[in-house]
Amino acid sequence: MTATDPAGLVDSDLVFPPGFFWGAATAAFQIEGAVTADGRGQSIWDTFSATPGKVLNGDTGDPACDHYHRYREDVALMAELGLEVYRFSVSWPRIQPTGSGRVESRGLDFYDRLVDELLAQGIRPMATLYHWDLPQALEDKGGWVNRDTAQRFAEYSSIVFSALSDRVRTWSTLNEPWCSAFLGYCGGIHAPGITDPAASLKAAHHLLLGHGLAMQALRAQSQPDHTLSIVLNLSPVWTDGVDHEHREAVRKVDGLQNRLLLDPLLGRGYPADVLADVDWLGDWEMVIRDGDMDAIATPIDWLGVNFYQPTWVAPADPAFVTPGNMPGLKGVEMLPPRGPLTGFGWGQQADALTELLLWLHNQAPKTPIVVTENGSSFPDRIVGGAIMDTERTQYLLNHVRAVHTAITNGADVRGYLAWSLLDNFEWAVGYSQRFGIIHVDFETQKRTIKQSAQTLATLARTNRLPA
Ligand code: NOJ
Repeated sequence: MTATDPAGLVDSDLVFPPGFFWGAATAAFQIEGAVTADGRGQSIWDTFSATPGKVLNGDTGDPACDHYHRYREDVALMAELGLEVYRFSVSWPRIQPTGSGRVESRGLDFYDRLVDELLAQGIRPMATLYHWDLPQALEDKGGWVNRDTAQRFAEYSSIVFSALSDRVRTWSTLNEPWCSAFLGYCGGIHAPGITDPAASLKAAHHLLLGHGLAMQALRAQSQPDHTLSIVLNLSPVWTDGVDHEHREAVRKVDGLQNRLLLDPLLGRGYPADVLADVDWLGDWEMVIRDGDMDAIATPIDWLGVNFYQPTWVAPADPAFVTPGNMPGLKGVEMLPPRGPLTGFGWGQQADALTELLLWLHNQAPKTPIVVTENGSSFPDRIVGGAIMDTERTQYLLNHVRAVHTAITNGADVRGYLAWSLLDNFEWAVGYSQRFGIIHVDFETQKRTIKQSAQTLATLARTNRLPA
């Protein structure tokens, strides 16, 4: 017999540590819409999505979820669910329409109102300064391939921090810089749509430098209870064998996908084996200047990790060169995800999240970790006014269990944020993939809470997972 308390909880439930927080995440371009409101400038995603053939069905960020005008309703839904933390991003072109110089106060006012509304509802705001919407004016000068963009980012970060840090205590600089660099400048499947491997590596360095310079600027302005971080997309690399060739395949992809950005952030510099693997370094030696690596290694207070699925690889003919987002890797083949798959065709191996969190804890034992994004996309159907998204709910529960296992085994994980609060603009595939725990009817803008949101609400209320 297990004991049951009045709330229906049983003592075999998996209990999370006191203070563990639950919430949801979004990004400005994916939900706000209102792309020309209040002096907002153009971003690279406005340009990219307006270019025929770049985004599925010609979808754009206008009006997305029209969150710019409906933020009160969205915050009320979060409050109804009892979410404790809301992770959102600030749109750089709303704050500085041309990426530098003049500040558009009406843009800052929007985030002021949003933060006030969150706090009034008892929800802790967590701000991300860059979630991929670079002002187009900066891209016109080379974007992240231009070193100057790093400096501009630090200035912009400082402006936003000055305006909001009296109320926002939890900050991240960049979201998934790997995607900005390699999907944006190498594979070309994200804005700005460039396919130049050498440029992507430069962009990666300048993104990290921008993070480092922003960290220094924010540190100089911050109080002891402000915590600063970066958010990385990391994924364990899995293969089917243990021989040398399989281990080499894993090392190469793990290097380019995970260690390339993590190592410098942790003060270890760029991993030499990765730089030796790629044959598209260009004038790399010239790109790194004195002081860069120290700036990049400015200590962070916590690390955000976005996890969706593991990466599968296999050894290939030594002459085979990987195409796409990671060109230049020889002798390794990227394999498709393995089932059961999500609606997007992504894998659902929750064990990989436990492995990732324990690996990260081992890499940076003193750095608390937050799961800043985790979620799945499925085609939901409204039946009788309700959405029983059982597959998404199961994905959520499996991954929350995986987080608990990691904590039990020593990982210092402080919170879990579902991706995403709302169905939204899923980048290159537009509105075709629904990741929301709240359904959005893009014709009417009507919001409907899904079963997965109710499940997250229960987790937030009880801080435990039924065994
Ligand atoms: C990570 C990105 O941060 C987010 O913007 C995106 O929608 C999700 N992955 C799902 O692809």
